[in-house]
Amino acid sequence: MVVPGIENFINIKQEKIPLTPSRFLGDQGEVFLEIGFGRGEFLESIAKQHFEAAFIGIEMSLTSVRKMLKRLHRANLTNARVLLADASFTIRRCLEQGCLAGIYMNFPCPWPKKKHSKHRLTGSLFIQGLACVLKDGGFFQVLSDSQEFVEELRRSLSDSGFFDEPDVVRNLGTRIGTKYEMKWRAQNRDIYRLISFKKSTPDSCETLRGDEMPHMKIPKDAFSLSILRKATKHPLVKEHITIIFKTIYVAEEKREFLIDTVTSDDGYEQRFFVKVVEGEKDVLIKLFSSGLPFRTEAVKSSVTELGKLLLNTNSSGSSE
Ligand SMILES: C[S@@+](CC[C@H](N)C(=O)[O-])C[C@H]1O[C@@H](n2cnc3c(N)ncnc32)[C@H](O)[C@@H]1O
Repeated sequence: MVVPGIENFINIKQEKIPLTPSRFLGDQGEVFLEIGFGRGEFLESIAKQHFEAAFIGIEMSLTSVRKMLKRLHRANLTNARVLLADASFTIRRCLEQGCLAGIYMNFPCPWPKKKHSKHRLTGSLFIQGLACVLKDGGFFQVLSDSQEFVEELRRSLSDSGFFDEPDVVRNLGTRIGTKYEMKWRAQNRDIYRLISFKKSTPDSCETLRGDEMPHMKIPKDAFSLSILRKATKHPLVKEHITIIFKTIYVAEEKREFLIDTVTSDDGYEQRFFVKVVEGEKDVLIKLFSSGLPFRTEAVKSSVTELGKLLLNTNSSGSSE
C-alpha cells in the first residue's frame, strides 16, 4: 500500500549521514525544524505561509508521521519533509552542522516524574546538539504550559554558554492552533514562550561517521554455544555506552546464531540482532542486516566486544 505523501518522507536509516537538508529540499531558502509536531497543524500552517523557506518535522510517533504525510499531500506542499526518529539523537548525531535557521518545539512532553527525566528534552547533550545544528544567530523557540519545564530549559540554555540569555514570556497571546495548545487554553492554563538565540558553536559536534557494517572473525576452536551463552551473560558498560546481549536464537543445522541485543549510547537505546555464523575454519560475527540500527559506537562495539568476550571466555576456561 502506498502511503499518500510518501515523497515527503525522509527515511533517515537509509540516508547518508550527515543529513543535508538541501538534498531533499533543494535550494529552498532557510531551513527550520519542528520537534514533535503531533497532529501537524503548526508545520502545515508555517510551511503554507512561507513558501520561500523549507521545513523539516521530526516525530517519534508513526501514526503522527503518517497523518502528517497525508496532510502535506492534501495541501500540495513541497517545502516540508518529515522524519520518524528521536529528535535528540537526530539533532546530535545525524544533521549537518549549522544547517538550520530556527527550531520550534511546541508543547513538548514535560516528563515531570524523576524516573522519566531521561526523556525530557532539556539536558546538556540536547542543548549542545541544538547549538551544533543551528547557524550563528539561529533561534530555538519553545511553547509550554509547564513552568518547571521552561525554567529547567532556561537554565540549561543559559549554563551551556552557546545561547544568549533566553527570553521567557507568559501568555504572549499569539495562537498556533495545535491540539495541545487548544487543550491547555480550554483549561485556562498559563502558556510560556521561551526563545533563545545561538551565539557560539560547541567544539565537539559529532555526527555519526562511516556506516559500514562492522564484522569480526575468530578461530572456530574459540567458539561453542556454551561459550556464547557465558560470554553474553552480563551487560557491558563502558564510559557512555552499554551493551546487553539478551536472548540467543539458534538455527542448529545451519550453525547460525542470532543474538537479540540492546545498546545505549549516552542514553539513546537501540535494539537489533548480532549474527554469529560458524564456517569451516572460523566464526564470523556481524550485524544482522534487518532492523538497521544507526551505526553508533555501541552498535559497532556490540560486534567487536562480542568477539573479544568469546576469545576471553574461551581462554579463561569459561569460568562462571
Ligand atoms: C504533547 S505532544 C505535542 C504535539 C504538538 N506539538 C502540539 O502542540 O499539539 C508532544 C509530541 O512530541 C513527540 N515527541 C516526544 N518526544 C520526542 C522526541 N524525542 N523526538 C521526536 N518527537 C518526540 C510525541 O510523539 C508527541 O507527538
